[in-house]
Amino acid sequence: PCTRPHTLRVNQETHIIEVEPDTPLLYVLRNDLELNGPKFGCGLGECGACTVLVDGVAARSCVVPVSLVENRQITTLEGLAQDGQPNDVQQAFIDCQAAQCGYCLNGMVMTVQALLERHPQATEEEIRDELRYNLCRCGTHVEIMQAAVLVAK
Ligand code: FES
Repeated sequence: PCTRPHTLRVNQETHIIEVEPDTPLLYVLRNDLELNGPKFGCGLGECGACTVLVDGVAARSCVVPVSLVENRQITTLEGLAQDGQPNDVQQAFIDCQAAQCGYCLNGMVMTVQALLERHPQATEEEIRDELRYNLCRCGTHVEIMQAAVLVAK
């Protein structure tokens, strides 16, 4: 196997990780850096459970090769917290009890975070549109939308 060192900036920390260049970013985050916010759902870029921010843009880390994101700013769910406290988006999801099983929530939170970073007063319709490819099998979309709308105002 052709491994080589990769420089990754994750949640404001720099890590040198020795892996094959086509290793999915998700595997490095979870297995090497023990950041378990991003989840493995489909592994095909379709469900959104693995979403992280790359330079502020939502990205599905299960289909992003680690070599593509060297020296970019990667933020995971863990990196949103400020001084150990949930940020506004995370707190809104808690306040609205948006989780049932919770597996999809990483993707929901990170996708809403990315949207609100570029468009802080997004409308309900814009939020709904942004979340249309994030899957929740429990069906808690109502609470998820309530949380997102709450923080967008
Ligand atoms: Fe990455 Fe489903 S696990 S999109």
